[in-house]
Amino acid sequence: MNILAIGDIVGERTVAYLSERLWHYRRENNIDMVIANGENADKISGIDAQTAKELLSSGVDVITGGNHTLRKRNLYPLLESNKNILRPANLPPMVPGSGYTITDAASYRILIINLQGTVGMEPLDSPFACADRILEREAGKFDLAVMDIHAEATSEKLALARYLDGRINAIFGTHTHVQTADETILPGGTAYITDLGMSGPTDGILGVRSDCAITKLMTKMPVKFEVADGPIQVCGAVISLNPQKRRALSIKRVTF
Ligand SMILES: [Fe+2]
Ligand SMILES: [Fe+2]
Repeated sequence: MNILAIGDIVGERTVAYLSERLWHYRRENNIDMVIANGENADKISGIDAQTAKELLSSGVDVITGGNHTLRKRNLYPLLESNKNILRPANLPPMVPGSGYTITDAASYRILIINLQGTVGMEPLDSPFACADRILEREAGKFDLAVMDIHAEATSEKLALARYLDGRINAIFGTHTHVQTADETILPGGTAYITDLGMSGPTDGILGVRSDCAITKLMTKMPVKFEVADGPIQVCGAVISLNPQKRRALSIKRVTF
């Protein structure tokens, strides 16, 4: 079975781009499930309810999140009611919604977990311990497991992947908005890539208009970030899994 994982979606033009192309891409590439990080889909910061619904009707099966997910309050009821919109599982327990879900694809039960890193980010609950708890709680209820680790530090992402190798079948990183070239199958059979990259306009700085990001970095003054201009590029990876052997067969970086 084939999963397309899409890196951080930035801005409404990218959402429109996906709604035009994603179903076609799914058919052309025999994709059974699409998991997309949507934390920047509404402008640059957060994802509102309308945008989340639009992504789900565009061919995205599960939306994962990160440090920006909770910025738009109108998402909160949807986080509670729609099990396919996730926020990091290691946020405090009173946060609306869930950090994992089990959903069917190609007649298999797929556990999708969303975690956030703690190195150079908010001091959340340990993603290692949180993953252990979820796997223990849901044992026997899923055929394959997949994880979006939304983190800053490459070391933390790879450490989590090696720790969970063989227990989670595909682990991909998000948050840095730059696609890494280290996709691999780990010894225990887990497909891994440190970062899927950004899905958004290519003419700025990580999806932000260059003048905004440069002014912010030069002056250290507060600056309102605007979404960059230029052509849209979606970044991600296609991961092929063998459900019988519970191992990854391949992982390939993709852009379109
Ligand atoms: Fe992001
Ligand atoms: Fe992020």
